[in-house]
Amino acid sequence: MAPASAPRRISERKPRERRVKPIRLALLGCGTVGEGVVRLMRRNAAMFERRLGAPLELAGVADRSLKPIPELGLDKSLIVRDGAALVERPDVDIVIELFGGHEPARTLILKALAAGKDVVTANKALLAENSAEIFGAAAKAGLAVGFEASVGGGVPIIRTLREALAGDRQRAVYGIVNGTCNSILSMMTESGCEFADALREAQRAGLAEADPTLDIEGHDAAHKLCLLVTLAFGVRLEPRDVYTEGISRLTLADIKYARELGYVVKLLAIAKDDDGAIEARVHPTMVPARHLLAGVSGAYNAIYIHGEALGASMYFGLGAGQMPTATAVMADVLETARHRVAGARGAGAHALGYPMPHLKRARVKPMDDVVCEYYLRFMARDQPGVLGAIASILGRNGISIVSVLQQGRGVETTVPVIMRTHEARERNLKRALKAIGRLRMVAGDPAFIRIEERL
Ligand SMILES: NC(=O)c1ccc[n+]([C@@H]2O[C@H](COP(=O)([O-])OP(=O)(O)OC[C@H]3O[C@@H](n4cnc5c(N)ncnc54)[C@H](OP(=O)(O)O)[C@@H]3O)[C@@H](O)[C@H]2O)c1
Repeated sequence: MAPASAPRRISERKPRERRVKPIRLALLGCGTVGEGVVRLMRRNAAMFERRLGAPLELAGVADRSLKPIPELGLDKSLIVRDGAALVERPDVDIVIELFGGHEPARTLILKALAAGKDVVTANKALLAENSAEIFGAAAKAGLAVGFEASVGGGVPIIRTLREALAGDRQRAVYGIVNGTCNSILSMMTESGCEFADALREAQRAGLAEADPTLDIEGHDAAHKLCLLVTLAFGVRLEPRDVYTEGISRLTLADIKYARELGYVVKLLAIAKDDDGAIEARVHPTMVPARHLLAGVSGAYNAIYIHGEALGASMYFGLGAGQMPTATAVMADVLETARHRVAGARGAGAHALGYPMPHLKRARVKPMDDVVCEYYLRFMARDQPGVLGAIASILGRNGISIVSVLQQGRGVETTVPVIMRTHEARERNLKRALKAIGRLRMVAGDPAFIRIEERL
């Protein structure tokens, strides 16, 4: 009989624990989003370490007005008021810029890159205006600039365009990318209030800034569109290249007439590649009520993309707010940290989806050459011949009418005449509206809204 085997000795020695070097982060700005990042780091520390194979550590937090929040668990010794020294410290690997604005954010990002740190930022305004400088510096240094949070908040659209859709040629991008405007338009549509009241309500609910200009005049959406255009079409665009019109002049009456015609008004950021000529515009747009984008309301964002091979796809979620935005920041931190742990360099060379030298300035299609269908509203004096006069001017400018909605006669001296046109060139429309505005039987300036019928 075989002797009973002795208990197996695996090893007396404990396996030598390899202490993995932590990845150390410097956080610039602990306001809305920064605080969310600290919360996520605390809440998900163990999961992040498992995902990375190394712990993440906060090396320091720069914020001029940060007050201690006990539940954040931020050690007082980590907090500094100014970021200049922090971004160059040798014990920092990744700098997370969440100050917002231009300076000192720009200088600190460039300093961080020069000091060999990867960068993560949510600052779309800065990136849209300085993409060549910042991404150029990162590419030269072989470092990463993560910017997932800069467009669509928690909606992972940057990675989607750069990676998941890289096998296709994109034809058009339509984005609801400003939650403030979308909330105001949803309130006007659903509650029937005028713009000023909806804006006040949005401010009360924390959905609009005290100074809402950047949002309601469409500039924030234009910044985001610049980044989307680069990722989708491989060309660089600056905010001044984007035709930008906000929502502050929209009236409740036009939103109601649009509904009667079967449309919902949205602030859309639109980009199309027309054989190398890039159409880039932000403006109130009538979207067919049955379309997916028409159902995106409140603070939600959605980006609807037409790929040549894939066809249509849509990406939807919360476009702002502390935790949604912080998840996008952390996704960038983890990706960048993963490269660090693996000892890989050069992660930033393709941050915009193309090597920097391949990214030429876009050839932008002039707005006058854009072709759209239009909603038109004229305040016409209630007298015979007015419709004929308007139609004849439109006809002379090559614009044909699909339908006319004339509101009932009443005691008013003017009545609204609503028209929907077939596709027309913007230049022709402007010329026609100018001539119609001069008619004595038309009061005030004609109003128009562009329609995207074939989204
Ligand atoms: N909030 C969102 O939902 C959201 C969504 C997407 C992207 N983003 C982007 O994320 C970034 C941060 O936004 P946020 O909403 O978190 O801003 P925030 O709440 O204003 O936080 C920024 C923090 O940084 C501090 N700060 C700014 N400049 C500083 C400086 N020079 N030195 C020291 N401290 C400074 C601010 O202090 P003070 O208060 O004293 O100025 C504030 O505490 C921006 O680029 C924004 O566009 C935000």
